[in-house]
Amino acid sequence: MNPELRNIAVGMIFASILSLLSLGYIANALYGVGHEKLPDPVIEGAEQASAGAVGSAAKKHEVSVASLMAAAQPQKGAKTFKKKCTSCHTIEQGGKDKTGPNLFSIAKRGIGKKAGFKYSKGLVAKSAELWSDESLNSFLTKPAAYIKKTKMSFAGIKKPAARADLIAFLKSSGK
Ligand code: HEC
Repeated sequence: MNPELRNIAVGMIFASILSLLSLGYIANALYGVGHEKLPDPVIEGAEQASAGAVGSAAKKHEVSVASLMAAAQPQKGAKTFKKKCTSCHTIEQGGKDKTGPNLFSIAKRGIGKKAGFKYSKGLVAKSAELWSDESLNSFLTKPAAYIKKTKMSFAGIKKPAARADLIAFLKSSGK
């Protein structure tokens, strides 16, 4: 090949490699810019969405205890009580204490108020309060999480509707 032609050919090859590279660079820059700019609103949106979700979850939680209670069936709760609670609790008036205290009129007598029963410190610390739908719901979801070092060694009842049924049953005691 004529050296001059070869030079031109080599030059052209370099030129095209260069232009490919710079095209790539430009494309990359554009693409990169596009990419850098995009995530901001997406992340913001996600944060807002999750903040919103937390907010609505909190609201949902409030609403759900009340609305679950509105739909609660105490007869169903009675069955659950028989199955899961009677190993440690009686609920009829004058019933004896077992591992746990008798629960007669539990929603009205106040937290930790069964005379003669030795409660845990954590439960006694709450004894100025009455049991409410909310606190019973929290306690029965996971007793140890609601009252530190509670003596009630019971894992909890997972299903919200089953808890509501049970709470409705507990509240029917001593009415
Ligand atoms: C393994 C035994 C055991 C089981 C099962 C059990 N409990 Fe208890 N429960 C206890 C003990 C012990 C306490 C006292 C807790 C403390 O002092 O921290 C207690 C406390 C309570 C209290 C508070 C009593 C008060 O006077 O304030 C309620 C309400 C209660 N249990 C409901 C239930 C329900 C409803 C079930 C069934 C889902 C249940 N428990 C299952 C042992 C048990």
